[in-house]
Amino acid sequence: MAEVISMRHGSSAGQPITRRDGPLKVTGAARYAADNHPPGLLHAVLATSAIGRGRVTSLDEAAARAHPGVVAVMTPANRPALAMDPDDKSVPFSFRMDLLQDQRVRYAGQPVAVVIAETLEAATEGAALLAPRYEAEPAEVSLDEGEAFVPPIVGAGAPAELRHGDAEAGLAAAANRIEATYETPTQFHNAMEPHGVVAAWDGDALSLDMPTQGFALTVMCLAALFGIPAEGIHIRSPFLGGGFGSKLLTGPQVLGILAARLVGRPVKLVLRRGQMYGPVTHRAPTRQVLRLGAAPDGGLTALHHHVRTATSRFDDFIEPSGGVSHTLYAAPAIRTTHEAVRLDTGTPGFMRAPGEASGSIALESAMDEMALACSMDPLAFRLRNYAEVEPVSGKPFSSKALRECYAQGAARFGWAGRPLAPRTMRDAQGMLVGWGVGTATFPAHLFQAAARAAIRRDGSGLVEAGAHDMGQGAWTAFTQIAAESLGLDVERVEFRSGTSDLPDAGIAGGSAHTATLGGAIRDAGLKAVARLAELATEDPRSPLFGAGNVGVVARDGRLLRRDDEGRGESFAEILARAGLAEVEAKGSAAPDPAAAEAYASHAHGAVFAEVKVDPELGQVRATRIVGAFAAGRIINPRLVRSQYDGGMIWGVSCALHERAAIDRRSGRVMNADLAEYHLPVNADVPSLEAILVEERDPHVNALGIKGVGEIAITGTAGAVANAVWHATGVRARRFPIAVEDLL
Ligand code: MOS
Repeated sequence: MAEVISMRHGSSAGQPITRRDGPLKVTGAARYAADNHPPGLLHAVLATSAIGRGRVTSLDEAAARAHPGVVAVMTPANRPALAMDPDDKSVPFSFRMDLLQDQRVRYAGQPVAVVIAETLEAATEGAALLAPRYEAEPAEVSLDEGEAFVPPIVGAGAPAELRHGDAEAGLAAAANRIEATYETPTQFHNAMEPHGVVAAWDGDALSLDMPTQGFALTVMCLAALFGIPAEGIHIRSPFLGGGFGSKLLTGPQVLGILAARLVGRPVKLVLRRGQMYGPVTHRAPTRQVLRLGAAPDGGLTALHHHVRTATSRFDDFIEPSGGVSHTLYAAPAIRTTHEAVRLDTGTPGFMRAPGEASGSIALESAMDEMALACSMDPLAFRLRNYAEVEPVSGKPFSSKALRECYAQGAARFGWAGRPLAPRTMRDAQGMLVGWGVGTATFPAHLFQAAARAAIRRDGSGLVEAGAHDMGQGAWTAFTQIAAESLGLDVERVEFRSGTSDLPDAGIAGGSAHTATLGGAIRDAGLKAVARLAELATEDPRSPLFGAGNVGVVARDGRLLRRDDEGRGESFAEILARAGLAEVEAKGSAAPDPAAAEAYASHAHGAVFAEVKVDPELGQVRATRIVGAFAAGRIINPRLVRSQYDGGMIWGVSCALHERAAIDRRSGRVMNADLAEYHLPVNADVPSLEAILVEERDPHVNALGIKGVGEIAITGTAGAVANAVWHATGVRARRFPIAVEDLL
């Protein structure tokens, strides 16, 4: 398969270089999946269910087929056979899919047919002409409905209940107690790029342009579904217009691949914006009960975090919101519990900081309420309960610069002047002003990845890995890591990525892509340099002869004697004398169980928010956000700042803007578009500042990276809600906070 991307850039690791794919994006030269138009391409459009539960009883296929340009209508009756039941979950990390296996409707927005036509317009019209009829049953879509059950696991595998100490005894003994219930809404994925695929079959070989956050996972899933060899599946995914977890799993794009199978021509299927509110996972709603006890001096005696959430009627993904309470505050007794109800919705899934984002809203609000009960400043209260070791495990942190985050964030924000009492600050226009703080946290994960590095005859470097750039600047950061490990300037390194036939770079998820693939790249780079060193140190003609591999250092394209850096030779000279076109090495990264056993590793941060509230109208504006984050080593401060900005904006969105409104009568999402599903725009976030707090972590992984993708969404919504309380004296516990909650 053709090389999709290769870049050369200047400067090295730690430097704030600009993303070199930036010009491609702003000039429109960057090619996203849906930009591909192979010869003979047909267009597929989904017809989706308008009811929340029941059966499709008829489709007007004749009308659709009769429309000019329509080539085929795919329904459960003629959908090509699959080698695996889409409801089978034996493929690791897979969810049950709706691939026209029968007439049953499990949620509103579920695909019920696919129309394939010569043009997008004809396919769209054909899909409208299908005019499905249904046998509808009442759909349950609210957390109030259904029988709750305790799931065996939550999130990607955590226990549903965790007990550390005796929370009930701690609560009973407390001088101050609070109990409060917080609600967070269903959120749908709204990446700029909706899910799509361009699929072409050649016998049993399958060529795909499809955004994915994990090539190997996707290939494994498709090989099993279609019963075809994995080696025959080639995916290109050079650019993603955002993933946020929704493109980790293979979902409705499979219908595009099936459509291509049915008609024997390449097919493009792209979900319309409204179709993103159904089959591509979402963040589940939660109702969280926080019970806190504290001694007279403000020290927590107990913390119980109970989560009620929802999953679909047919599959399990349980939002693990209680997890934040395991690590953040030093309560001697901690208990987290989760329960779920089954609703007639699509299955929820991974959405940026799944669990931590929703959980920290509740925890940070409750901490604020307890600070008030203890008559303490909210920041002082958090410092009083600072966890020196991970509370539930007792493990030391591999590093933790949260104290510095609090200090630097507070100084920059000007927290010191904050009056304790609410509703005491006004601006010149008479708006109520409030300040709030929230703590951010996200675990430092490491998954598995492989990479290949080569040093070429001209002295340049090449690094290859099937990685994903979702817009976070991954390629730029990986090239910087490659350059550092190869001892080359970034200008001299080529990074090839974006296709499934390259070494398995693992997933771009869990905020672990840079740490994981970066570790593999570093390993490959260092090994390639070691091979080069071997060539030199064993050759009597080299000035490095006899130095031994560990006695040399690679810098600026040269190998130098460690004990005498005046003696050395260039990579090109070594390869030329050896008569080799290149030396290459494969590298890998994987979790180190011993490190995980010895240390708890989390990124941390402190977010400070200012809001202004109109005293008559209750309208809230987040006027100023300052976040200070410590996440281990920073490869590129410019890119990291951008991740933090994006996370904090989503946090503001969680606090004030974003929620899916689901009609309890029909089960349908009533605001399935970007006009009615509110997301913050520039005017909603006038001042945003991210502080990168220095943190060195010698234990977390080879590069000392903790990951920056997800942390900044945590803490922020709580900080905004706490600022709203401080402005108004009204404690809003339902998110997003609405005008009617404050009047
Ligand atoms: Mo993330 S929710 O692991 O893309």
